[in-house]
Amino acid sequence: AADRAFILGLPKAELHLHIEGSLEPEMMFALARRNQVTLPYDSVEAIRAAYQFTDLQSFLDLYYAGAAVLQTEQDFYDLTRAYIDRAIADNVLHAEIFFDPQTHTARGIAITTVFAGIARALREARDQQGFSSRMILCFLRHLSEDDAMSTLESALPLREDYADLWNGVGLDSSELGNPPEKFAHVFTIAQAMGLHIVAHAGEEGPPAYIWGALDELGAERIDHGVRAEEDPALMERLIKEQIPLTVCPLSNLKLCVVKDLRQHNLKRMLDAGVCVTINADDPSYFGGYVNDNFIACAEAMPLTRSDLLQLAANSFRASFVDDSQRDAWL
Ligand code: HPA
Ligand code: ZN
Repeated sequence: AADRAFILGLPKAELHLHIEGSLEPEMMFALARRNQVTLPYDSVEAIRAAYQFTDLQSFLDLYYAGAAVLQTEQDFYDLTRAYIDRAIADNVLHAEIFFDPQTHTARGIAITTVFAGIARALREARDQQGFSSRMILCFLRHLSEDDAMSTLESALPLREDYADLWNGVGLDSSELGNPPEKFAHVFTIAQAMGLHIVAHAGEEGPPAYIWGALDELGAERIDHGVRAEEDPALMERLIKEQIPLTVCPLSNLKLCVVKDLRQHNLKRMLDAGVCVTINADDPSYFGGYVNDNFIACAEAMPLTRSDLLQLAANSFRASFVDDSQRDAWL
């Protein structure tokens, strides 16, 4: 049996969490009612029943449709507040939260509304509960680089107002056919602005996309990265440079990246010396928050207490906070 109490007691950081993917069906229903949005489901159970995915795209279709209920600053606040409560319950001390402005601006929601709602919840949790966090703005890779560039430009005036939170950019959405190179220019600019860089790569895409994320985008961490194992030279680099992978086991299972968690390479990569971390990705859609991911892995692999300690330590090591903050956690 998994070491549930030990996992729960482990202080941890969460580095791969899409805030839109933490939208639970109950809140989706409540916000749909509040905003007079019609959902193609007549119950919370019907929404949950629809969450049966065959690949990344089959998930993204529902994820973007669900996000349509998010309209006001209060909606983004409520969404973020609910995630923080779940994270604190899992002994998450620090979260670096992805958000997808283009999903909202495409529907006529102002980018300031998105920033303000998320940030209000994060600051309140910091001040009242000591919960630490950052915001990582993600570009949608199925859209053009021009669209990503306009998004970055529209966020620029917010840099000062959110300097305590917004410190990175990332790349998500449909991976295959949208290689990192497509976004080389916008990431160069983001990096010059002093923002941290991450990118989803090697979830469905080949190892070449991980090389591209590192060399063309300057990624400091790779989100997912599980296909790195197919390329020994890449594995050697990840280990040598201690480039963290933010692995999301239940996501990989639900999106059919792996057939069974017993075949997942998380433990193999950890044993090989890769800086692996465990994260939830889109907990509402994939059936579990971070501790559920730890428990599922501990049952399937299995993981020793020393592995679990290493995974938790890796999450702090890989975080984008000051060295003094990181040292305090480690
Ligand atoms: N991969 C790509 N895009 C995403 C994901 C993911 O796992 N979750 C939310 N957007
Ligand atoms: Zn993700």
